[in-house]
Amino acid sequence: MSVDKALSWAFTEDYIPEPDGPAHARTLAEEFGVTPISTGMGATLRALASASGAHSVAEIGTGTGTSAAWLLSGMDPEGVLTSIDVEPEYQSAARQVLRAMKVKSAQARLISGRALDVLPRLANGAYDLVFVDGDPEETPEYVTHAIRMLRPGGLLIVAGALWHDRVPEPARRDADTVRMRELVRTVRADERLTPLLIGAGDGLLVAVNRPPTR
Ligand SMILES: C[S@@+](CC[C@H](N)C(=O)[O-])C[C@H]1O[C@@H](n2cnc3c(N)ncnc32)[C@H](O)[C@@H]1O
Repeated sequence: MSVDKALSWAFTEDYIPEPDGPAHARTLAEEFGVTPISTGMGATLRALASASGAHSVAEIGTGTGTSAAWLLSGMDPEGVLTSIDVEPEYQSAARQVLRAMKVKSAQARLISGRALDVLPRLANGAYDLVFVDGDPEETPEYVTHAIRMLRPGGLLIVAGALWHDRVPEPARRDADTVRMRELVRTVRADERLTPLLIGAGDGLLVAVNRPPTR
């Protein structure tokens, strides 16, 4: 990569100053040792939630609430975010962040549990946007659930799509990189989806669940 490209990337990451809510969550993430989404990824999530008028959103991997805070700031103000995490103490920290942002408790349904136990209970075709940022080993299964859960025209968004910049390098053959490389290809080939790869942060794989054609 040219030095100019690296500067451009840093410029785009910092283009939107991080609002207080996600910044608070990011500080707590550092305390708890959680990896939050980057500011550029957060700004992208907020814009996609806003452009799609997302009302019903599901998230896998609450962490301390950085992505939740960005998503809620773009969603319909009357909408509901359902967010799953296996670590109750991370979700307590996320609750603290959302309370400080004055998000009503009915608007953020934080479910503590293993994603693969909780996801089967979430309804088919009921979500406008599903954001995946949980256990990397389970990501392909989360994506299968997400596609089932999305309404026609709804958005699937997967964090870590470049996986530490290893996905584009075929010589990188570690399990996490190979799994993400395969997922990126599978989503691109899926005729039910309109795919897009965004280079913000560690990469966002986005796909629109295509409405049925007439
Ligand atoms: C990368 S962090 C999520 C960060 C968060 N999205 C943010 O921006 O702050 C991944 C999260 O997935 C959670 N996690 C890991 N395995 C899980 C599982 N099997 N079910 C649900 N959550 C899980 C972890 O506890 C962690 O909080």
